[in-house]
Amino acid sequence: MALQATLLPSTLSSVPKKGHLVKDTAAFLSVPHHKQRLHAASLSVVRAQVATAPVATPGASTASKDSKKTVRQGVVVITGASSGLGLAAAKALSETGKWHVVMACRDFLKAAKAAKGAGMADGSYTIMHLDLASLDSVRQFVDNFRRAGMPLDSLVCNAAIYRPTARTPTFTADGYEMSVGVNHLGHFLLARLMLHDLGKSDYPSRRLIILGSITGNTNTLAGNIPPKAGLGDLRGLAGGLRGHNHNGSAMIDGSDTFDGAKAYKDSKICNMLTMQELHRRYHEDTGITFASLYPGCIATTGLFREHIPLFRLLFPPFQRFITKGFVSEAESGKRLAQVVSDPSLGKSGVYWSWNKDSASFENQLSQEASDPEKARKLWEISEKLVGLA
Ligand SMILES: NC(=O)c1ccc[n+]([C@@H]2O[C@H](COP(=O)([O-])OP(=O)(O)OC[C@H]3O[C@@H](n4cnc5c(N)ncnc54)[C@H](OP(=O)(O)O)[C@@H]3O)[C@@H](O)[C@H]2O)c1
Repeated sequence: MALQATLLPSTLSSVPKKGHLVKDTAAFLSVPHHKQRLHAASLSVVRAQVATAPVATPGASTASKDSKKTVRQGVVVITGASSGLGLAAAKALSETGKWHVVMACRDFLKAAKAAKGAGMADGSYTIMHLDLASLDSVRQFVDNFRRAGMPLDSLVCNAAIYRPTARTPTFTADGYEMSVGVNHLGHFLLARLMLHDLGKSDYPSRRLIILGSITGNTNTLAGNIPPKAGLGDLRGLAGGLRGHNHNGSAMIDGSDTFDGAKAYKDSKICNMLTMQELHRRYHEDTGITFASLYPGCIATTGLFREHIPLFRLLFPPFQRFITKGFVSEAESGKRLAQVVSDPSLGKSGVYWSWNKDSASFENQLSQEASDPEKARKLWEISEKLVGLA
C-alpha cells in the first residue's frame, strides 16, 4: 500500500435524508461554548532542504527576544496536510521560516499539488507517505522519518475521515472500522512510536497535538445533536471493531447498528481522551506538551466530501450567515499553528478553543471526554489492537 518513494524533499517534488441535513448542520454548529543531539546526517538533510530558505536553518538561527540563545528551525510532522486544516497549518508554519513541515499524507501527488497550489516555498516542506488506514504504513512512515535523519519537535495528528451518511462500515487494512481505525488507532500508534523521537529533541518546546471536535463533546449544543457520541463500556472496541461478519460490532459501544456520523464523533472522543492520557503518563517525565483543540467550524474543507451535495452547498453559507460560526481554512490554520508554536499555548493537557474575537482559551471537555478511567481503558485496548501490548 505504501508508495516506494515515500520521502521526497519539496525541492525535488515538483511534482440522506432531509433529517440528516438538519442534524449534521446542527452537529457542526460552532457554538462559542465558550535533549536531543542532532546527528550529522540530520543536519545535512534539513540544511539541504532549507537551502532556498535563508531565514532559518535548523541548528543555527533565530535569536530569541528575551535571551541571547539561538533556536534552530523546528521540524513539525502534520498528518493529513494535503487539504483543509492540515494544509492551512502547514502553510502558516512554513511561512514563518521557523518551521520545516513534514506533510504526512496518503496521496503523495495530491499533497505535492496542494503544497504548490498553496504557494508553499520549495525547501520549506517534505512530503512523506502515510496511510493511517494501515498500521504497517504507520510503522513504515516512522522508519522512513527516522532514516531521513530529521529531529522531531512537534507532531500534529490531524488527518481524519468523516462518513456521515454511511449505514454500513468499511474497514482498514487491519480489519478495524475505518473512522475509528484512521482517526484514532492509526494516530494512537503513530503518537506512541513518535514519542521516542520527540523525547530526543533538543527543541525548547516539544508538542504532540491531536485534533478534537465540538461534536464529540456532549457538554455543547452541537454535541447534543443526534447521534450523540458515546463510547459506552468500549465493548465493541475490545471486540476488535470488526462488524457483524465477525460476530462483533463496528461501533465502539458495541451497538448492533452502524452509524457513520456517530463513529466519527466517537473517534474524536478517543482523540481527546488519548491526549489527556498521554499528558498523565508522559508530561511530567518528558516535559512534552500534549494538547487538543477545536479549531472552529471550517465548513469548506474536504471533511464533508461524503455528505450529500445539498448539505455541501448549504453548509458553508449556513455557518457563515446564520450561526456565524464559520471559520476560514486560513484562520483555522493559524489557530493550529498557534498550538504548535505559540509560547503562550505551551500548557500541557489542554483542549484549546477560540472565541468570536479569535482569542484562544482553555475549554472544558464533556464528562465522558475527560473521564480518566475511560481514558485508561481506551489506552489499554488500543495498545492491544495496534500491537503494542
Ligand atoms: N472541518 C471542520 O469543521 C472541523 C471541525 C473540528 C475538527 N476538525 C478536525 O480537523 C481535522 C482536519 O479536518 P479537515 O476539516 O481539514 O478535513 P479534510 O480537508 O478532509 O482533511 C483531512 C485530511 O486527512 C487525510 N486523510 C484521510 N484519511 C487518511 C488516511 N487513511 N491516511 C492519511 N491521511 C488521511 C486527508 O487526505 P486526502 O487529501 O488524501 O483525502 C486529508 O488530508 C480532522 O481531525 C477533523 O476532525 C475539523
